[in-house]
Amino acid sequence: MNTVAVILAAGLGKRMKSRLPKVLHPILGDPALLWVLRTLPVELKAAIVVLHHGKEQVLSALERWRADGLLPCSVLTVDQGQPLGTGHAVQVCEAELDRLEAARVVILSGDVPLIRAETVVALCAAPASLLAMEMPDPSGYGRVIQKLDGSLAKLVEQRDANADEQAITLVNGGAYSLPWDLLKPALHRLKANNAQHEFYLTDAVMDVASKHHVQVDFCDTEELAGMNSRDDQAALQASAQWRINAFWMKGGVSFLDASSSFLGPRIKLGQDVLIEPSVRIEGAVKVGDGTRVGQGSIINGGEIGKDVSIRPYSIIDGAKIGDHCIVGPFARLREGTELQADVHVGNFVETKQTLMKKGSKANHLAYLGDSEVGENSNVGAGVIFCNYDGIAKHRTTIGKDAFIGSDSQLVAPVNIGDGAVIAAGSTISGEVPARALAMTRPALVLKEEGAVRYWARLKKKT
Ligand code: UD1
Ligand code: MG
Repeated sequence: MNTVAVILAAGLGKRMKSRLPKVLHPILGDPALLWVLRTLPVELKAAIVVLHHGKEQVLSALERWRADGLLPCSVLTVDQGQPLGTGHAVQVCEAELDRLEAARVVILSGDVPLIRAETVVALCAAPASLLAMEMPDPSGYGRVIQKLDGSLAKLVEQRDANADEQAITLVNGGAYSLPWDLLKPALHRLKANNAQHEFYLTDAVMDVASKHHVQVDFCDTEELAGMNSRDDQAALQASAQWRINAFWMKGGVSFLDASSSFLGPRIKLGQDVLIEPSVRIEGAVKVGDGTRVGQGSIINGGEIGKDVSIRPYSIIDGAKIGDHCIVGPFARLREGTELQADVHVGNFVETKQTLMKKGSKANHLAYLGDSEVGENSNVGAGVIFCNYDGIAKHRTTIGKDAFIGSDSQLVAPVNIGDGAVIAAGSTISGEVPARALAMTRPALVLKEEGAVRYWARLKKKT
């Protein structure tokens, strides 16, 4: 049976008060819409994202996710035009649903990001179902009324509900599975005769329920909570944070303060990883067994090996870090950084497009850009790889067992051979062969008792 998902994502999200379309607002680094798309089973025939407001932004996000392999199934888009309600959003998919020969349509909202993959799988297998939840404070949601057998009797939006209906705490989660042969004529019959003058999908669902058993399935409020305001976003973020951190604790990860650590949904942690307070990890990140992530560190994408020590306040963007490395405190590893095993990158060191081979070190205050540092080489304090001439970037290559003395500048393009020594304070702008010593330091000037004469001279003037 062909099951096609329709994801509603065309609304403006007025209550967010934002330039960004609501469905692109992030929860722990990943946009709400991506959370929803990632729950889709691979067996789906396709998913249709209904979009309009912020269309260009949503399309380019989809393009990026597709390129990064984050979409589990084929995802198409339909522009709703001026959005006239959730029912209208599904109406505009009619031609696509027919073309895909949909038998069953699963409808999800792009603003309900924490729905679980298991729930979506079950919904995709249900002949006709609506997900509902008990909300102690149901305000803002549509209310659900069941028949005696538990199936759906009626859905009523808050604004259209009478006092008795307003008191109902069973609310509509906005996720449905419905047979297309019944939903399609129901959508044709929709009228916008309600408080918001919109075409409500909920009316079409009721229409289907008048002809076919529509099961009301219960979910946790945490799964079906919608994101309609910044408050909702903060609450969703808090529950996602707890869900993810609890999951990793079960897998053998320790947190010094789980309430202050934010780990995104695409992170994989090994056993005995230790997360210190105020850590944020987003994007796709793999962290190996026994690694410690220091307080205040921010990691966005990348791969970190086993038994690595990321010391406090390090910023890591898409870097690959080998086993047993030591990074930070206050290190910044930018895009294209690769550290092989046993590398040390210390405080106030910045790296970019740089390969540091096994056992090499840059421990203090250095900039390593567009470079390769050979095995066991040492880059001293204050060394700068001058990679940019104002127009183009150039490479620095250092062989193995080399020693770059403190406060030196390597003016790229430049190659330093194996075992070479650069004396402290040198400016190197040419090739240095293997085992050579290079020094560009001015000669030392020494004047005996000169300091005494210096002060005497100054005092005389005042
Ligand atoms: C909807 C349901 C409500 C339910 C709630 C659950 C209706 C009429 N109401 O209300 O019963 O309790 O979800 O979260 O369906 N959208 C479009 N095109 C439109 C309008 C909306 O694509 O013309 C999209 C929005 O971008 C959003 C989703 O549909 O992602 C839901 O729309 P929203 O306006 O948030 O509906 P709610 O008021 O939350
Ligand atoms: Mg909503």
